[in-house]
Amino acid sequence: MADSGSVREDSRIVIEDDWPGYSLDLFTYPEHYCGDIESVYIPHGIIMDRTERLARNIMDDLGDHDIVVLCVLKGGYKFCADLVEFIKGLSRNSSKSLLMRVDFIRLKSYLNDQSTEDLHILGGEDLSVLSGKNVLIVEAIVDTGKTMKALLEHVETFRPKMVKVAGLLVKRVPNGLGTPPDYVGFEIPNRFVVGYALDYNEYFRDLNHICVISEAAKIKYKV
Ligand code: HPA
Ligand code: MG
Repeated sequence: MADSGSVREDSRIVIEDDWPGYSLDLFTYPEHYCGDIESVYIPHGIIMDRTERLARNIMDDLGDHDIVVLCVLKGGYKFCADLVEFIKGLSRNSSKSLLMRVDFIRLKSYLNDQSTEDLHILGGEDLSVLSGKNVLIVEAIVDTGKTMKALLEHVETFRPKMVKVAGLLVKRVPNGLGTPPDYVGFEIPNRFVVGYALDYNEYFRDLNHICVISEAAKIKYKV
């Protein structure tokens, strides 16, 4: 992870606290979520364009290495898939060719819209493949940083050569834990967002845009 001093001010899109999102009338979304979402916070197209740029930054930095992409499930599956596609596209049109393996780890720490104390690592691949490798952890959202810290400690036990982190979203939270990801898509306010594989109790992963859910939906899908 980069120390905060080496993260450039312009290295992320900052969404301010007073950003209300776009009106739902301006976009399409699945009809079954009618009444469940309040606004379109980040439209799918902007997510894709930003991801393409992150792919280029990653190519510039890691282009001639072999890397193991470690996709953090479940929320990271869309970001990871799109990021890998963009990197592949850039590799095809470049003298650099980035050999990628893609592995998965499954974590769970949220119930309803609250982070729970315990992080569960729910299996996935045998991570001994990370030993001696350049690892790119791909995570949809970093908020308190607790999950990322625990994950980094876990990954380090497999003695990788290098670890970088790509986070699509980073939340501005009070007392956030230390180091930001090396590659950040968007910095967002401390609000609960869904869509683009981010869930609320497993719902809303099938929404392309990143959205804010309504209070009614928080009750409707509560467990
Ligand atoms: N949305 C969905 N999942 C999450 C969030 C969020 O805002 N923060 C951490 N996990
Ligand atoms: Mg979740």
